Formats: sequence, C-alpha cells, structure tokens
Amino acid sequence: MAYTVPKLTDYSKESLDKAVRELVRAFEREAEAVSSEADWKNFRDRWMARKNGVLTLVNDLWLKAAPKADKRDVGQWVNELKTLVEEKVDRALERAKTQASWPKLSSDRLDITLPGIRRPLGVEHPVIKTWNEMVDIFCNLGYSVEEGPEIETDYYNFEALNFPPNHPARDMQDTLFVAGQDAKPLRERLLLRTHTSPVQIHTMEKLKPPLRIVIPGKVYRRDAFDASHSPMFHQIEGLAVDTNITFGDLKGTLDHAMKMMFGSSVKTHFRPSFFPFTEPSAEMLVSCFICGGSGKRCSDPCRTCKTTGWIEILGCGMVDPNVFEFVKHNGYDPAKVSGFAFGMGLDRVAMLLYEFPDLRLLLDGDERFLSQFAREA
Ligand code: DAH
Repeated sequence: MAYTVPKLTDYSKESLDKAVRELVRAFEREAEAVSSEADWKNFRDRWMARKNGVLTLVNDLWLKAAPKADKRDVGQWVNELKTLVEEKVDRALERAKTQASWPKLSSDRLDITLPGIRRPLGVEHPVIKTWNEMVDIFCNLGYSVEEGPEIETDYYNFEALNFPPNHPARDMQDTLFVAGQDAKPLRERLLLRTHTSPVQIHTMEKLKPPLRIVIPGKVYRRDAFDASHSPMFHQIEGLAVDTNITFGDLKGTLDHAMKMMFGSSVKTHFRPSFFPFTEPSAEMLVSCFICGGSGKRCSDPCRTCKTTGWIEILGCGMVDPNVFEFVKHNGYDPAKVSGFAFGMGLDRVAMLLYEFPDLRLLLDGDERFLSQFAREA
C-alpha cells in the first residue's frame, strides 16, 4: 500500500521516531523503484509538490499541528527530512537516466561489462564423422539407410545368415550372450549382435526386392579392451539385391566408394575369403592412402600398412542362396534374384584416416583428443 502521512496524536520521542522511520523507509522504497524519467517526475511530485506533496503534508500535519512545546523538536525533524528527500530525489534522476540507457536485461544488477561464458561448439566424434561420410557416399549412389536392434536373437545374428547351430563358423565371432536364455529354443535366445548383418534379414523380411541399403550401427564382441580391440565397435553393412547383380557390380561399387572415401588414386584388391552368408566371399584391400602403396614414408617403413602397401578394409561377397531361402516368402527367390553384401569396421577406418594409434582414444571422451577433429570454421 502506498504510504500516506499519518496525523500525529502523540508527540513523544518514541512515536515521533517511529513516524520518521516509517516515512524514510517508504521514501527509500519508492526511490529504488524509479527506473525512467517519467517515473522520476511522479516520484518528485509526490514527495516535493507544494500542494499535497508528502513534505508539505508533513509540514501541515506534524509541524503546524504540534503543541508549542514540541515545535522545536518536530521542526528539526522536518528540516532533516526535507534535506534527505531533496538530495535523494536528485540522485534518483541520475540513476533513472543511466538505467534507461542500459539494454533491457532481466536483472539491472547484471554487470554487462564482465566477459561472457564461452560455449564451445560440439564437433562430430571421429567415428560418427566416418560413419556419416560413408553413409553419404552410398546415399549418393541411391542407397537408403536401415537400422536394427542391438540385442538380437540367435536366429537373426546366426541362423538366417547361414551359420547352422554348432557350425564352427560361429567361433569366428566371440559372442556376448544374454544370461538366463537356456530354457528357450536356440533360435530365440538373445545375444548382443556381433555384426550388422542381421539387419539384412530384417530388411528383406520387410521390403521386397530390388533393394539397396546401408546399415550403420554398434556391434559387440567378447574381446578384451586394448589398442586394437574393443567389446563395442561400429560397422557399416551394405546390401544390394536385384535381378542379375554380379560380382562386377560389387567390385565397381566398392571401388568407387573407396575412391570417394580415401582419394581418387587408391586402388582396390580382392582376395578370396570365407563368410557363411556370402558365396563367393572376398576380403577387399585398398592401396595404402598414407604411403601411396609404396610401403615407405620418406625412407621410413610405413606403419599404417606395415610396409605391405595394402590395407585390409572390409569383407564382402555375393549373397549366399541359402540366405535368400530364409526370406524367399517375401520375393527373394534365389533362382530369380542375386545380390552382393559387404561389411566394414568404422572405428578402424577412422583410426587409419586420422592416424591415431590406439582404439581406446575413441572412447575415453578426452576433449583434448576429440577437439582435434573440429572442422575448420
Ligand atoms: N559381418 C561380417 C563381420 O562382422 C562382415 C561382412 C563380411 C559383412 C562379408 C558382409 C559380408 O555383409 O558380405 O565380420
């Protein structure tokens, strides 16, 4: 409630003190609230106007009405109040003027001359950068992106990819199994997917041929965590299915992708390999993009390719007809369609591209390492 000057009925020292204190408190509160020149004018008039200003009322209600004996004391108080009010009213104008020239901020106590808080821009993690680059290369060839679950059943991770139960090929991938699954039939037991290949099956169950997809994602293996192994890493898988897809399509597509990724002068080399879900299967190598395939860096041996001039980069092959048998009901008759597939480790590619020696750096979250991958602004 706005302050009003009370009539004094009692001129004792106590009640005079109390009345003065209340007035000064009200005055200061109102002085604080002045924040513009218009405010200030109202404030000045309220306290200093000849007619009905607070000071005038104090004069009338306190001094003029005082009994003779108290006039001296009351007069002194009233004078002191006058000086205080006049001084502070002037100062309030100055404050209001400087405040009005400040930008409007939520708090006028904020010191805008202090240096700001720098918020560094985030950068893509080197694996995510490699992931995105690889996805982009295939998207430009008309591939689309598919993803699948990281917890898989034995059926999708192994059986439908032509790893029969108890087949030794399963030993190629040290698997992390989910506990407590023994009561279930083998094909329903859960595990952490060891590769992105099960998404080939999920996608062929969902979409009819022709198909051109890439599948990036996290995969898990029962491996010790060291400079070149990690129980979790990233892969990108590719699958193309159509009529008359040949090994020549596989070679042409991957050769193009590698040139896009590592530079147009890299060469590719295919050598025979084995995967249960492809027949024939191959490993693809690229000529070392660090030493240009010479095996030497200046006169030193090239560490990236271990002086061989070649780097093993991925596994690939023509989709095994046995795999199509599992999705035959959705249009994948092995007598009618053919396809190729490939799978590549993204962490290793990032390591090769950026030449860092230890896979663990990717997962340490050390800002000093990661900030080096910031793109130039
Ligand atoms: N899934 C394989 C692995 O993790 C990689 C791979 C090889 C994927 C050949 C493929 C392929 O699609 O055709 O070792």
